[in-house]
Amino acid sequence: LNYRFTHPMLPSFQFADRIAPLHPSPIHELFKVLGDSRFISFAGGVPDSDLFDVQGIAEATAQALAEEARSSLQYGAAEGYEPLREQLAQMLREKKADVVAADLMVTAGSQQALDLIGKTLISPGDKIIVEGPTFSATIACFRLYGAELISAPTDEDGVDVDRLQELVAQHCPKLVCLIPTFSNPGGATLTLQRRLQVLEMAVRHRVMVIEDDPYSDLYFHGAPPPSLLALSQQVAGSRDWLIYCGTLSKVLCPGLRVGWMVAPRAILAKAAMCKQFSDMHTSALSQVAVARYLQMQRLPALLARTRSIYAERAHAMHAALTRQLGGAVVCAMPQGGMFIWARLTGAGRFAGDGGAFAKAALESKVAVVPGAMFFANNPDHATLRLSYATSSIERIEEGVARMASVF
Ligand SMILES: Cc1ncc(COP(=O)(O)O)c(C=O)c1O
Repeated sequence: LNYRFTHPMLPSFQFADRIAPLHPSPIHELFKVLGDSRFISFAGGVPDSDLFDVQGIAEATAQALAEEARSSLQYGAAEGYEPLREQLAQMLREKKADVVAADLMVTAGSQQALDLIGKTLISPGDKIIVEGPTFSATIACFRLYGAELISAPTDEDGVDVDRLQELVAQHCPKLVCLIPTFSNPGGATLTLQRRLQVLEMAVRHRVMVIEDDPYSDLYFHGAPPPSLLALSQQVAGSRDWLIYCGTLSKVLCPGLRVGWMVAPRAILAKAAMCKQFSDMHTSALSQVAVARYLQMQRLPALLARTRSIYAERAHAMHAALTRQLGGAVVCAMPQGGMFIWARLTGAGRFAGDGGAFAKAALESKVAVVPGAMFFANNPDHATLRLSYATSSIERIEEGVARMASVF
């Protein structure tokens, strides 16, 4: 039925031109079925809420209100609550990055950091190189600011740096945006050598590189290579061409909306100005509570538990996919993070069509995300993203068995 026809008085809203290229995410469509316990979902990009340290966060919040009510409830600085900035800088220094509080600002999750980068640096028509595939919200966010996105190919070691350098030389992009560690959706991790090459490229081509890094603490068998931020000390001048986005969403919880961005100070000043005119500052209560939580030293134990549970689930999913769908699907075992990136070989039904497969899987009550939506251009329609983060091993095995039954 035509909605306009049945509602003849509906006004026709004149939306801004900038939203014309955006479409509702298929993931949001999937959310509609995900409350239903008959469905097994590998579709989300969310951490397991059973792992949240509710008691620790409750104690930290109670302390914030009892001892710092004014800072927790009053307006605050756009750059963030100073003691939290100090602690985040300290956390980065522990990972060998040379950062002080003034080098970073607190943001409402790293998604807001990406948005502030868009607001302060992207003009309509600017070219930006992203990985193919990359985080779908980054694609939408940069397109909202009128960017033209170009995809650099990736392999099991992250972005193909030779190809990236060629694309940078050819297009002179304003930004290159990478998720170097346990990427969403690809699961891949950029090697140390490629990291150094990226930094050298940034200096040589005078191109700003964004390191989006929500997952590097979620490693399974040993820490990943140092961040581009930490490595920038080894490549003269590269720190001037680097913006690092971090977040507590995947290691503590996303609901508090605490992330941060490390950038050259001139960029931070503009980003803080834009944040003032947007949400003024990240929730003061969240920031004070997180500062208190970090002081309580509960994060290391929480991280250790999360790493080992996600590692077990990742192994279970990878083994089940290999065992039950071996001829039809290929996938690499991730070394950390929350995702397995799979590719249909073309064998069996579906002829390598990830969208058709996801639809059929949904009929057998398993949700997976077709990979095509993670490409800014030239989508690989044979791909799928599966998250193991929120399912028990039994549900993972049952879900993969249901997937195998639709072939
Ligand atoms: C690669 C990547 N960047 C950024 C985000 C945004 O996270 P948040 O805004 O919760 O920090 C996510 C969340 O899924 C992500 O996967």
